[in-house]
Amino acid sequence: MAEIRIRNTNERISGEQEVREFLSKQDVLYEHWDPSKLPAHLQEKFALTDEDKSEILSTFDTEIRDLADRRGYKTWDIISLSDATPNLDELLKKFENVHTHTEDEVRAITAGRGIFIIKGNEEIGYFDVELEAGDVISVPEGYAHFFTLMDNRQIVAVRLFIETEGWIAHSYDDPTFVK
Ligand SMILES: [Fe+2]
Repeated sequence: MAEIRIRNTNERISGEQEVREFLSKQDVLYEHWDPSKLPAHLQEKFALTDEDKSEILSTFDTEIRDLADRRGYKTWDIISLSDATPNLDELLKKFENVHTHTEDEVRAITAGRGIFIIKGNEEIGYFDVELEAGDVISVPEGYAHFFTLMDNRQIVAVRLFIETEGWIAHSYDDPTFVK
């Protein structure tokens, strides 16, 4: 289950109800899929073949189509990152810049862990959402954010898009943000 850390106060929020309530107040969609549906041989595998990716997508086909129907996503794919990813350090450096998109950024974590750092409302400021397998999150369009891995540096996630061509990161220069 996801956990929140508010950066200004170091306050942590955990527990399904509390996390859901906090994220919904910040306009962040948060849902949960059953990660145990994934076949055991894929639950700890991070260097994926095309066959593995298709198997993950077909395992969660009902959940993906339900989310897509409700929210207008038209395409989806699998992203996996781990120490087996070429240039992982460079990639992470590139990721760790605050940016925005012209559509929402939705990720359903199917294995591993990751963190979205999101700029909330004025009262809250930046907060971290620590995600694990089963967590589904959508950062709203236009919200400043970035994504990074946790210490284990391993994640597999489903990405859903409304329009693949329109999905571009716009850097968001924020002098108030402290890493
Ligand atoms: Fe993004």
